[in-house]
Amino acid sequence: MTHPKLAALMLRGTEFFGCETAIMCGAMSWVSERNLVSAISNAGGFGVIACGAMTPELLDKEITATKALTAKPFGVNLITMHPQLFDLIDICAKHDVTHVVLAGGLPPKGSIEAIKAKGAKLICFAPALSLAKKLARSGVDALVVEGMEAGGHIGPVSTSVLAQEILPEMAPQLPVFVAGGIGRGEAIAAYLEMGAAGVQLGTRFVCATESIAHPNFKKAFLRASARDAVASVQIDPRLPVIPVRALKNPGTENFTAKQREVANLLDTGAVDMMEAQLQIEHYWAGALRRAVIDGDVEGGSLMAGQSVGMVTKEEPVTDILATLMDEAEAALSARSV
Ligand SMILES: Cc1cc2nc3c(=O)[nH]c(=O)nc-3n(C[C@H](O)[C@H](O)[C@H](O)COP(=O)(O)O)c2cc1C
Repeated sequence: MTHPKLAALMLRGTEFFGCETAIMCGAMSWVSERNLVSAISNAGGFGVIACGAMTPELLDKEITATKALTAKPFGVNLITMHPQLFDLIDICAKHDVTHVVLAGGLPPKGSIEAIKAKGAKLICFAPALSLAKKLARSGVDALVVEGMEAGGHIGPVSTSVLAQEILPEMAPQLPVFVAGGIGRGEAIAAYLEMGAAGVQLGTRFVCATESIAHPNFKKAFLRASARDAVASVQIDPRLPVIPVRALKNPGTENFTAKQREVANLLDTGAVDMMEAQLQIEHYWAGALRRAVIDGDVEGGSLMAGQSVGMVTKEEPVTDILATLMDEAEAALSARSV
């Protein structure tokens, strides 16, 4: 199937990324490594390496390995909280990475300039209109608007509301990509018509054949429905933790215990708030690794978005992208008859 209507609506996004379809596969820690990232980019989408808690040396290796698997552009997602953020930025510059995504909060002082110094484009998450405006003023090249339907760390507002609040004001200024809860092409068509330059999906790509996620992790996704993907609960008001959406499992309880442990450390003064939050983030990275890599779907974290119910089989990235594109084109064609 050809996609003329969709291609026209995606033009701004495809030009921004230098790829054929303005569908990004959002970085997913442990999942978005060389195999999935190169498969997405080779199939015409835009793959993004999840740096997560990687050291600069590991990121260096991952970028080199990804380049060996694809000649197409791909991005790197860095977490603002990473203690070696500026070394990671240097690694991206060394490899002439064309697009850097900064996740986990506002860009720290100097990071925007450092990322853009070698010509890379910078993409940031905008959790509210006021912050979207601030990011645009500070020189960010594109925004991702991600709603609470998404898998992984989430904000409090739904994708549909954020899209309505942010697209009309910001899309005229810079490319905006919509993320969270997108499982089918009809939704992609709708967000493009609202002004989005493209979309970012995570959950839908976890069960791609090329994804190295453990078979147990993929099986859990194939069995789950939307209501199984629940947000974590904050148990102590003194310890503000960013909620994480994941499939319910016995491991969900471990997070409660971890919060108690860290809250006690805060009480005794053994750690400050920054260190407490870092410990929580290390907990998630470890729990996700146990599930994605080791296949521990009982004790590990099964981060997944509400679109998980629309993931029904393991299939190659090319098929997933083709399905999404066909659905979107069909929706657009149906409107114009
Ligand atoms: C297993 C998993 C791990 C994720 N890890 C990260 C991450 O390391 N950094 C990040 O910015 N987003 C992360 N995300 C969010 C995705 O990049 C993407 O924005 C999100 O999955 C989009 O929503 P969807 O899951 O509804 O498609 C993760 C999502 C999942 C499902």
